[in-house]
Amino acid sequence: MAKKNSSSNDTMEKLVALCKRRGIIFPSSGIYGGINGCWDYGPVGVELRNNVKAHWWRTNVTLRDDVVGMDASIITHPQVWVASGHVDQFHDLMVDCKKCKQRFRQDHLEGDKCPECGGELTEPKSFDLMFKTTLGASAESSTTVYLRPETCQSLFVDFKEVLAVSRQKVPFGIAQVGKSFRNEVTPRNFTFRSREFEQMEIEFFVTEADEPKFFDEWREERMNWYRAIGIREENLRFREHRPDELAHYAKKCVDIEFQFPFGWGELEGIANRGNYDLSQHSKFSNKDLSYFDEATKTKFLPSVIETSAGVDRTMLAVLADAYAEEEDRVVLRLSPAIAPIKVGVYPLVNKEGLPETAQKINDKLRRRITTVYDSGGSIGRRYRRQDEIGTPFGITVDFQTLEDETVTLRERDSMEQVRVKIDELIPTLNAQLDLDR
Ligand code: GAP
Repeated sequence: MAKKNSSSNDTMEKLVALCKRRGIIFPSSGIYGGINGCWDYGPVGVELRNNVKAHWWRTNVTLRDDVVGMDASIITHPQVWVASGHVDQFHDLMVDCKKCKQRFRQDHLEGDKCPECGGELTEPKSFDLMFKTTLGASAESSTTVYLRPETCQSLFVDFKEVLAVSRQKVPFGIAQVGKSFRNEVTPRNFTFRSREFEQMEIEFFVTEADEPKFFDEWREERMNWYRAIGIREENLRFREHRPDELAHYAKKCVDIEFQFPFGWGELEGIANRGNYDLSQHSKFSNKDLSYFDEATKTKFLPSVIETSAGVDRTMLAVLADAYAEEEDRVVLRLSPAIAPIKVGVYPLVNKEGLPETAQKINDKLRRRITTVYDSGGSIGRRYRRQDEIGTPFGITVDFQTLEDETVTLRERDSMEQVRVKIDELIPTLNAQLDLDR
């Protein structure tokens, strides 16, 4: 019997251990003791990561007429971050407990005493969340620049450029997936709060009158995406920001949250940014970023509805949601759409031509989907290994294969096995994996 996912730290510890054991996620620079807030994605993790990003891109860019993509540099002109407000405002005020020495974000505290031990707290100190580096080799000519703390600013800065080349008209959006960096004071909860992470953002440019309509549309669109990648309904919810917690640029913001083993946490923010960003960049660059609407012959600075999701948090949510313990196995019930490996191919035993036939099948399938060929250990162990990384199907070549050209196809969750003709494997898997989606 499958147990329900427990929402305890215990589950988190097991998930972290599974991720390390199976090459999904491990601490960065582990041989040097690791580095706080930075994580490496192993052979299985990188496949899952690529699938999450590809699914997002396909849904939001490839399958839409009104969103185009771009890929901007991580280091930008430093004025970008002055105009965006980050240089002035991207700081956390922190306090330390004089007794137990723990550090807390001041805005997370309710009283003026340490929430852990009741000790006295220090005066708040400001922590700069942007990583700085220098551009240029010599000390005299170098300039201080920043590693971007969000991917979206380039989408505002390049708005006119993209508009001109894409021949889009408002309403339309620009999408980007890429790394962001924040010198988080308290990285925690595995990859949930990292210092280096990846975002998937869309800036959707609209008229001021259309702000509410597109805010609501994107809110639903984005929630539907988390459902489409297989996250269970009961683990998802919206949370609207109170006026006192809105970011400096936002008129309105709603988060999509997931119920992690450590509690509800933000996966994505959908924000009405008004025309704050375009107006700031117009002002600081002295360039006109307004839009001319041919139909109404009016010129205006478009408003922006932003959807800002995290790759790492989505992955963590997907893993936590899929994790299940059964009597004699651990299984990741990942949606086939994002599972790192779609099919395991196994010869029942390593003799009498079974490995050669299995390898032939594997070679044919791997041109279309990610597969793994595994001939080591008992067949039961091989199934378990793939169950642990969420591989939805297993194909076993046995002695009957040599007689009638059929193999067994095993489904991960039900563990049911059916016999399928080798020639019918691709159409059968196509239907099950929704490859022609
Ligand atoms: N452009 C708006 C923006 O960046 P945000 O709420 O600061 O908004 C958006 O970040 C998303 O980026 C979050 O919902 C989360 O998924 C991800 N994210 C932000 N900080 C993160 C961190 N330190 N570690 C991992 N993911 C993070």
